[in-house]
Amino acid sequence: MKVHIIGGGNLGVSIALGLARFSKNNQITVTRRHTASILHLEELGITVSTDNKQRIQEADVIILTIKPYQVDTVLAEILPVISNKVIASGVSGLSIENLQKKIGDSNIAVRIMPNIAAQFGASATCISFNEQHSEQAKNIVTLFQDLGTAPVIDEKLMDAATVLAASGTAFALRYIRASMQAGIEIGFDWQTALAISAQTVKGASEMILAENIHPEQLIDRVTTPQGCTIAGLSEMETHGFSSSLVRGIKAALKKIKG
Ligand SMILES: NC(=O)c1ccc[n+]([C@@H]2O[C@H](COP(=O)([O-])OP(=O)(O)OC[C@H]3O[C@@H](n4cnc5c(N)ncnc54)[C@H](OP(=O)(O)O)[C@@H]3O)[C@@H](O)[C@H]2O)c1
Repeated sequence: MKVHIIGGGNLGVSIALGLARFSKNNQITVTRRHTASILHLEELGITVSTDNKQRIQEADVIILTIKPYQVDTVLAEILPVISNKVIASGVSGLSIENLQKKIGDSNIAVRIMPNIAAQFGASATCISFNEQHSEQAKNIVTLFQDLGTAPVIDEKLMDAATVLAASGTAFALRYIRASMQAGIEIGFDWQTALAISAQTVKGASEMILAENIHPEQLIDRVTTPQGCTIAGLSEMETHGFSSSLVRGIKAALKKIKG
């Protein structure tokens, strides 16, 4: 597919890298106004440009990874030269209805919520579209399945997906940081503590994803009666481990909803 990514920042570059590494036979263009920091993408065969309209007419898919306040400017620039395009927007808070209104009936709005692990083929990209566009949206789903998982969700859960899947990356990293910090307290240097903590989280995730079971079933396998694991878990829960995470996720959702 010919993929045209407008907004070569954190998310746009992650998607471009993911597509170049994990999705076959795509021609990728990434645009931003100041391209110096992303010229290295050209080594992977990605076209980098400051011109949002360059090759856009040939594109099968346009992906918007710009900030909400940049949307109108970008659309004013590209809409005069495109029609019958699928526009997949990763812009937080921009509803399908609003985007569809902005781009007119001749183009198709799809909403995506990837995260920056896309560059490692490990994003959880939630996708929503209007039922009548399900045929055209298939390409987007297929594309993002190459970059991790790509569940199609009801759009009313998109804010929740933003918090769980996009902000969730930061929450998971904070867990790893805390675990690393504890590792230093109990005797490791930070590099070793970090490597152990990160790999342990990766291992736990891989077991969950492979076995598709409730986390408690796996926790039970590592928790010996009267052992150190249950002692640690109990102490963490006494200090609000699960509840602080739930409260944090709900606070993030409240913030997003304004
Ligand atoms: N970061 C994440 O993890 C994440 C996850 C999910 C969703 N999102 C959403 O994705 C969007 C982008 O987030 P981000 O973190 O990637 O932001 P970012 O790093 O600031 O990227 C936005 C990019 O858009 C470019 N841009 C601005 N105006 C432009 C224009 N007229 N034409 C072409 N490019 C233009 C900017 O580069 P120049 O200034 O050089 O033009 C910048 O590189 C936001 O709406 C955010 O809510 C982000």
